[in-house]
Amino acid sequence: MLVTATEMLKKAVEGHYAIGQFNINNLEWTKAILLTAQENNSPVILGVSEGAGKYMTGFGTVAAMVKAMIESLGITVPVALHLDHGTYEGCYKCIKAGFSSIMFDGSHFPIDENIAKTTELVHAAHNMGLSIEAEVGSIGGEEDGVVGAGEIADPAECKMIADLGVDFLAAGIGNIHGKYPENWKGLDFDALAKIKELIGDLPLVLHGGTGIPADMIKKAISLGVAKINVNTECQLYFQEATRKYIEEGKDLQGKGYDPRKLLAPGYEGIKAIVKEKMELFGSIGKA
Ligand code: 13P
Repeated sequence: MLVTATEMLKKAVEGHYAIGQFNINNLEWTKAILLTAQENNSPVILGVSEGAGKYMTGFGTVAAMVKAMIESLGITVPVALHLDHGTYEGCYKCIKAGFSSIMFDGSHFPIDENIAKTTELVHAAHNMGLSIEAEVGSIGGEEDGVVGAGEIADPAECKMIADLGVDFLAAGIGNIHGKYPENWKGLDFDALAKIKELIGDLPLVLHGGTGIPADMIKKAISLGVAKINVNTECQLYFQEATRKYIEEGKDLQGKGYDPRKLLAPGYEGIKAIVKEKMELFGSIGKA
């Protein structure tokens, strides 16, 4: 069932668990994530970066594929189709394409410009029945060409953006896209607690979910994080399983070259990591 992310995240805050956003790249990714959510009775958010949207030939293709797949696979758990780190133009494209949720990432703009653009997009999204995420304080590292310095969000600025009527808020608290470096200092829980104090029950989003230790994930959830984004870890599981298949020479045996066989181990790898994350986040059985 395609829905906005508002209701599922509100319930997650109340129930002290988090919903995973898993980024999609193609049909295999989408099918693996949808079926894992259904098998585990968990709500799920499918994240689409602007780069992945382009790769899949446009947001219209993505929305059509996801909607058709929800129907053909009989997916009854709540599914949100969400633009990840959207630009101003990208947000409008996804509203038009039939997404159920968008993220406007105005974190690289001065706060006044972030406020002005977020205000406009909150109205545009809500008028069309979509949920919207905004961002304060950039996420470190790089994802699909979106580069962030990794600043810690200013709690006062978080409050300003929260008051614009966004449905959930991403705040930089030392989190990074991609693999964490050896010398990573960890999440800034003091900043998270201060933000939570000011914004109350508005669901918080933790980007850069790959590689954050389980104890930090649990503490973040206890401090109001209700949506956790995971992208790189699915890519790594897919890559490792595919490499193993080829290194074992399975692509050379019989019809092992058939793309449906060649991509199957990677597909199973994505299913395994998505289930593991749903267990850690506590979203299993919450659909
Ligand atoms: P990772 O690639 O580090 O898991 O981050 C995903 C993310 O935050 C998507 O916005």
